[in-house]
Amino acid sequence: MAVWWKQSVFYQIYMPSFKDGNGDGMGDFAGITEKLDYIKDLGIEGLWLTPFYPSPKVDNGYDISDYESIDPAYGTMEDFERFIEEAHLRKIRVIVDLVLNHTSSEHPWFKKSRSAKDHPKRDWFIWRDQPNNWESFFGGSAWEYDVLTNQYYYHAFAKEQVDLNWANPDVKKAMFHVMKFWLEKGVDGFRLDVINFLKVQDQFQDNPYDEGKQEQVHLYDKDQQGILAVIEEIAGFVHQYPDKFLVGEVGSEDLEILKRYSGQDKLDVVFNFNIGSIARFDLTMLYQQLFATEQAYDSYQIPTLFFSSHDMSRHISRFGNDEDRAKLVAALLLTAKGIPFLYYGDEIGMGDWITTDINKMKDVQGIMGYQLACKAGKSHEEAIAIANGKSRDKSRTPMQWNAGLNVGFSEHEPWMTIPDDANKVNVEDQQDDPDSMLSFYKNLLKIRKQHSCLTRGVYEYLNNEDGLLTFIRNDQTQRILVMFNFADHAKAIEIDNGFSTLLLSNKRKSFNRKEILANEVLIVKEETGK
Ligand code: GLC
Repeated sequence: MAVWWKQSVFYQIYMPSFKDGNGDGMGDFAGITEKLDYIKDLGIEGLWLTPFYPSPKVDNGYDISDYESIDPAYGTMEDFERFIEEAHLRKIRVIVDLVLNHTSSEHPWFKKSRSAKDHPKRDWFIWRDQPNNWESFFGGSAWEYDVLTNQYYYHAFAKEQVDLNWANPDVKKAMFHVMKFWLEKGVDGFRLDVINFLKVQDQFQDNPYDEGKQEQVHLYDKDQQGILAVIEEIAGFVHQYPDKFLVGEVGSEDLEILKRYSGQDKLDVVFNFNIGSIARFDLTMLYQQLFATEQAYDSYQIPTLFFSSHDMSRHISRFGNDEDRAKLVAALLLTAKGIPFLYYGDEIGMGDWITTDINKMKDVQGIMGYQLACKAGKSHEEAIAIANGKSRDKSRTPMQWNAGLNVGFSEHEPWMTIPDDANKVNVEDQQDDPDSMLSFYKNLLKIRKQHSCLTRGVYEYLNNEDGLLTFIRNDQTQRILVMFNFADHAKAIEIDNGFSTLLLSNKRKSFNRKEILANEVLIVKEETGK
């Protein structure tokens, strides 16, 4: 049997915003379980859930205060077990987000650590008499003074997210216990949060400053020596359990760095931010990254494909609010070489939400951005603009199920604002419309499942010329050609005679080998006559 995750399309669920099942305005396990048939019908075979562990939710669950329980806001352990069982009944695997780099400042480990310099848990976190110049990735110093013991502790993110000291073997032991706990609960793998941050330089040298970009270069606080050995240990531990999958969030857009972390004995895959997080639509850059990834990866390495997540603007908004373009990006996600991760709501074309009301902002990065800007003397308007640039609330709004009360997400006031025009884009209206975004995604997922060359095939050809991105996927049993015209005008083309069966276009039912329409994607299969 082929490895399951190599054939699967993953769907990312942002826990608080998918579906409220118990009427308190927040998404939960009961809600997700209710929607498993929708997920199945879409053609999804893998789910990635963002953190659901008890947490003060300063960073919406990425600040865990208990690694082996369920946050009551999301349900009970029984709800979780029932969800896993129901997902597995539908042949949907589940991977869960695990934050090994830091705990909440409310975690008992940290409470003990901060209590006294000689407490056995002191060394589980990183304490220093004096801070160095390292900056938090959310802004400001990465060191927080703690008056209790007159030292500073290190936090790469918010001050409520305290970095664990992975140089201490007991930390590793505790985290292996956590992994074992969830593997035995039946999860199919983990998404490892900021996994390349686990080690920091033991000399604590100051980071250099990039004058051009006017920002700190994070030279000594990630990708440090010894990190690969830890990754290999984690991978070795998890892979003792058959069929488990590990995807790493390696916080970098640098392919040279990304490629260190996946492959034989390492993580199964990492998120390819070099492709997925391009800030605006730029076909040349996109092609260059697809091509460079293809060149850089060895035969054990498989790229991932994604264009949206809970940490970035949704691609439909980022790439110019154009529905046709969003369909082309969907086709790229599901036909190019790599493991696709589809972000909830992208399948109906949900867009970003922006607020001018700071009281409605939920994301710590946005709120911190606002506070730091105010402190630096910016006006309220300037500070709001800065906060909006940083805030990740934009892509975290409740899933739009129908045009009714709270877009069918909850009967209660939702935990986060629903955009004014949200009811215009929803699952119910698109379900039976053959031209909708949702139907297009379903068709793509079906085609992907029916054609092994789209999961297993190499790129026999990969080219970008004259604004046309073209590739041929080939797995020795079949060949499929995919051509994208991202331009606003039709173009003359030449497609070989063999490619005669149009599997899908976003524009028409039959095709013409000599022309591709404006904003069209053609997915064409070769007929071999066999
Ligand atoms: C990852 C998560 C992000 C979180 C950060 C700190 O990047 O995806 O949402 O804020 O880690 O845990």
